[in-house]
Amino acid sequence: SASNKVRIVEVGPRDGLQNEKLPIPPAVKAELINRLGQAGMRDIEAGSFVSPKWVPQMAGTAEVLSLIDPIPNTNYSVLVPNQKGLDEVLHLLSPSNSPDSKPPPPITEVAIFTAATDAFSQANTNVSISASLERLAPVARAALDAGLKVRGYVSVIITCPYSGRVDPRRVRDVSKELLQMGCYEVSLGDTTGAGTPASVRAVLEEVGKEIDASLLAGHFHDTNGTALANIQTALDLGLRSFDASVGGLGGCPYSPGATGNVATEDIVYALTGESTYGEIGEPYPTASDVTVPKETKWDIGPASLSSLAETGAWISTILGRETTSRAGRAFMAR
Ligand code: HMG
Ligand code: MG
Repeated sequence: SASNKVRIVEVGPRDGLQNEKLPIPPAVKAELINRLGQAGMRDIEAGSFVSPKWVPQMAGTAEVLSLIDPIPNTNYSVLVPNQKGLDEVLHLLSPSNSPDSKPPPPITEVAIFTAATDAFSQANTNVSISASLERLAPVARAALDAGLKVRGYVSVIITCPYSGRVDPRRVRDVSKELLQMGCYEVSLGDTTGAGTPASVRAVLEEVGKEIDASLLAGHFHDTNGTALANIQTALDLGLRSFDASVGGLGGCPYSPGATGNVATEDIVYALTGESTYGEIGEPYPTASDVTVPKETKWDIGPASLSSLAETGAWISTILGRETTSRAGRAFMAR
C-alpha cells in the first residue's frame, strides 16, 4: 500500500508569477522563494528559462537564482522548454562562470513540459506534441548527464482551451514518453481547472493502466473550486505528489481565464488541519451505524501553515490583491 508521505511541490514562484502583467523585481521573487523555504517547502520551482518574447515575466530568472539563500535539503527546480533553456541553466551551474567565487545557484532539477493536445502544445510551445517530444528527448538526456533530475509535465489532461475535451489515452501515452526520456515523475496538469473528481478519476484510471501512481504528480488549477476534491481523488488512487502555489497565485498565459493552482495553504490545511486545530474527535457515526475509518495522518514534512499563510498574504499584498487561499485568509483572521 502507498505511504502516508505526501510531497508538495511549491510552484508559486514560477506558475504563480509567470502570468503577472507588471514586472516583479527579482529581489521580490527571491524573497518569495526564501520565505517558502523557511516555511518548510522542500521542493520549490523557482522560475523558468523560456523565451522572454513568450513569457516576459520569467525573463529575470537567472538574477532571481543569484539572490536565493539556499536552504539545505531543498530541491530548487526550473522549467526549460528547449536546449537553449537548459544551456542557460548549465552555464549558471558551471563553476568556471562565477569568477567572483560566488557559489552557483542551488538548482538540482529541471522540468520539461508538453501537452495532451496538439492545439495546446502549439499555443504554448509553437510545436505539435510529437515535435515537442522530439525536441525534449535530447534535453532530458543532457540534463541527466549533467547530474540534474528531470521532471515532466503534461498540460491539459481534462480539457483544452482550444480543442475541448481531452482523450485520457493521449495523457497516458504522452506521460509514458516523458518517463521513457528519464523523467523521475510526470506531473499531470489540469491547466484549465475544469476537472471534477469524476473526470480526474477517469483520466487517472486510464493513465494508471500503464503507469504506477508513484511516478505521477497532480497539478490542479483551481478555476472551479474543485482542486482539493481532485487531490483527494488522486490520493485515493495512490498519488502522493502534488503541485501547489502559495496564495493560490497564478495561471498559464496560454490558458485564458484559468486561475492559479490549488493554494499551498489549502492543501496543507486539508492534510494536517487535525493536528493544527486539535483532535477532531471520534469518527462520526452514520445513519446506518457504520463508523467511518479514522482519517489518515498525512506526513507533509516540515511545511508550516502559519508561515505559508503569512507568505501568501505578503506576496498577495505586493501584487495588490487579497490571497485567494481560503485557509490562508482564515488563518490570518484568527
Ligand atoms: P519559438 O518562437 O518557436 O522559438 O518559441 P525560436 O527558437 O524561434 O525562438 C524565438 C526567440 O526566443 C529567439 O529570439 C530565441 O533566441 C528565443 P530572437 O532570435 O527572436 O531574438 N528563445 C529563448 N530565449 C530564452 N530562453 C529560451 C529560449 N528559446 C528561444 N529557452 C519556445 C518556442 C519553446 C521557445 C517558446 O514557445 C516558449 O518559450 N514557450 C514557453 C511558454 C511558457 O513558458 N508557458 C508557461 C509554462 S508551461 C505551464 O504553465 C503549464 C504547467 O504549469 C502545467 C499546467 O498547468 O498545465 C507547467
Ligand atoms: Mg500550471
